[in-house]
Amino acid sequence: MNSIAFVGAQTGDEGKGVRVAYYVKRAVENLDRFCGVSDEPRVLTMRWHGGANAGHTVIFEGDKYVLHQLPCGILIPKTYNLMGEGVYFNPRKAIGEIKSLRDLGIKINSKNFGIASNAHVTLDYHIEMDVEDSRGQIGHTSTGSGIKPTAIDKQSRVGIRFEEFLDKREFVEALKARFPSGMPKGTYNQFAESYSAEREFLSDISVLQTEIMSRRNFKILIGEGAQGFQLDVDRGLYPGVTSSNPSIPYFNADIIIGTVKMYESSVGGGRPFVGKMEKNLENSLRDVWKEFGATTGKPRSLGWLDIVALKNAIDSSGIDVLVGTCGDRLEQLAKIGEKVKLITAYEIEGKKFDKWDKSFHKRGTLYNAKPVFEEFDAWEKFFDADEQKLSLNSQKFVDRIQELTGIDFIAHGYGPGINDVFDLDKIII
Ligand code: IMP
Repeated sequence: MNSIAFVGAQTGDEGKGVRVAYYVKRAVENLDRFCGVSDEPRVLTMRWHGGANAGHTVIFEGDKYVLHQLPCGILIPKTYNLMGEGVYFNPRKAIGEIKSLRDLGIKINSKNFGIASNAHVTLDYHIEMDVEDSRGQIGHTSTGSGIKPTAIDKQSRVGIRFEEFLDKREFVEALKARFPSGMPKGTYNQFAESYSAEREFLSDISVLQTEIMSRRNFKILIGEGAQGFQLDVDRGLYPGVTSSNPSIPYFNADIIIGTVKMYESSVGGGRPFVGKMEKNLENSLRDVWKEFGATTGKPRSLGWLDIVALKNAIDSSGIDVLVGTCGDRLEQLAKIGEKVKLITAYEIEGKKFDKWDKSFHKRGTLYNAKPVFEEFDAWEKFFDADEQKLSLNSQKFVDRIQELTGIDFIAHGYGPGINDVFDLDKIII
């Protein structure tokens, strides 16, 4: 099986979901075209990490879908979609998500959706701990989705896996191991009982990941990273990170595709933001671009595309090619007479850095970094649909990114719809 992984090359919210959905659809269509039409799913999609902290909005055939946990491939017929063994699965939230997708006509059943039986579950007490932990913190906050406590339990070996969760007796035993002196509220049995609707609803979608991955009908695996490189617990802007590995696909990917927004955005504090925009400009653009967290609704901080950070993501994750997103949004800068900026280096205590340095892993360093900018004329139109090409100014910007990073774009998203993409047709899927 050939495999592709999509990773967010920045701080999350690059618009990965809709681009993944596009490539999943393209893969299904290409397989039908080149290998003969089949109703059998031949495209396997997989979320490999993270949990309900993610948020993707996808506009497909006129409808708007909001996904948090399920892979975006679920929207595309003739696919099988897996929440892999590295995810933190929240059963209560999943029910709501599945029901609302079904209400919009999306088919979800054990034929096209599975959850790895060894994935860990996020339960009510994880959410409570997470919210309690973040309360009053100005710096490093969370989405309140229970990610950190689930990760702590997993690594401390008192977590609960999906298969155990589905068996009430096993669930109670696992709760006893987690809380040897009794549950924080109520009894073990009451807590397990409070999940009876979820157990029933989700009973037939637990799968053995290895069995799914080895099914011969699957020809392409498309991995969907959540969050982004800078939130990776190992490689990101620690400690302002999440508790998983957005930058490391948990399978051997033949091609790694980095999604990159034409500017930077970041939600949640506790990490340096070198190229942050000047406040007034940031506020006005945020309103126009609706840059608020899809999961939390929190306002996102905005900044200029950072090539130093992007090159680090490319080198660390082994990103082969880029998919650009949101270039159309920068049209707003032409309207207000502003230039588009690109960060090509950092200046720290009189020293210039044009690539990532180990000193950046000391917590204080990047808070003292000053961005070195190149400026570009803004574009009135990012993509000319009639001519099927980028405009002169946007092409110059894109060319410079390619020159500085040494890798190419294979497509540019220019809107929230699945088909709002200028596909340069450079990869075979
Ligand atoms: P957690 O993943 O909820 O623990 O949050 C840790 C940090 O990652 C916080 O700064 C969040 O705002 C950020 N974060 C988590 N998920 C996302 C995401 O999907 N997009 C952007 N930021 C995220």
